[in-house]
Amino acid sequence: MTFSATLRTETMDDHQVANGAEFVRVLFDQRLSLAGFAALVAQHYFIYRVLEEATDAMADDPVAGPFASPELRRLPALEQDLAHLYGPEWASIIEPGPATVAYTERLREVAFTWPGGFVAHHYTRYLGDISGGQAVGAVTERQHGIVDHAGTRFYVFDRIPDRKAFKARYHELLNTSPWDEAERERIIEESRIAYRHNAAVFTDLERHLPQYLVAS
Ligand code: HEM
Repeated sequence: MTFSATLRTETMDDHQVANGAEFVRVLFDQRLSLAGFAALVAQHYFIYRVLEEATDAMADDPVAGPFASPELRRLPALEQDLAHLYGPEWASIIEPGPATVAYTERLREVAFTWPGGFVAHHYTRYLGDISGGQAVGAVTERQHGIVDHAGTRFYVFDRIPDRKAFKARYHELLNTSPWDEAERERIIEESRIAYRHNAAVFTDLERHLPQYLVAS
């Protein structure tokens, strides 16, 4: 089995937990208000601010650098989304929840100095965004009648016209990176940690769910 296949298989349970969250269910049932969606975008902003700072720090690393494709960058889209969803004062309105803070602390611990740790976190977020994340963007736009991706730019990868080919190349990069078995194991474990942080962010948001539901 290739490393990318092992990584996907060994994180399958964690993926299941993250995408089985109540918050996600409510979103796919089209019961999440735009304010509820905005709260998710706000948490993404705090996470990607650190993840993309780590990307800059790793840009010249011979192993991690090739993963850091500029076309993945999400921060400009998140800033546009937040300005649309919260208005021009967005930066003084949004706050990270406790799970988001814990997630960014983990990123600071591992993603700035350990190339494999960076890749584990990079993979878990960006490959998710160009996979299942696409369905999140689509259902949100449909439910709220969003046009021109106003508030949902995060899910639009303008510079990646062929997501399938992009993913194949990314998997190939995972498979050809010079990691021994022990390092591969550590990367899988770090990806599982990344999934758990993402699930915890949903759990945080779920505490506010009653105020984020559309009237039925
Ligand atoms: C929101 C609900 C979610 C749905 C419906 C969903 C669905 C999917 C689907 C269908 C795939 C496979 C796509 C393909 O093979 O082309 C996938 C892949 C993936 N998802 Fe999710 N997902 C969700 C949430 C998440 C979350 C929260 C994360 C982590 C932050 C995540 C991380 C990933 C990763 C890393 C992959 C790529 C696996 C690989 O090919 O190596 N997903 N997702």
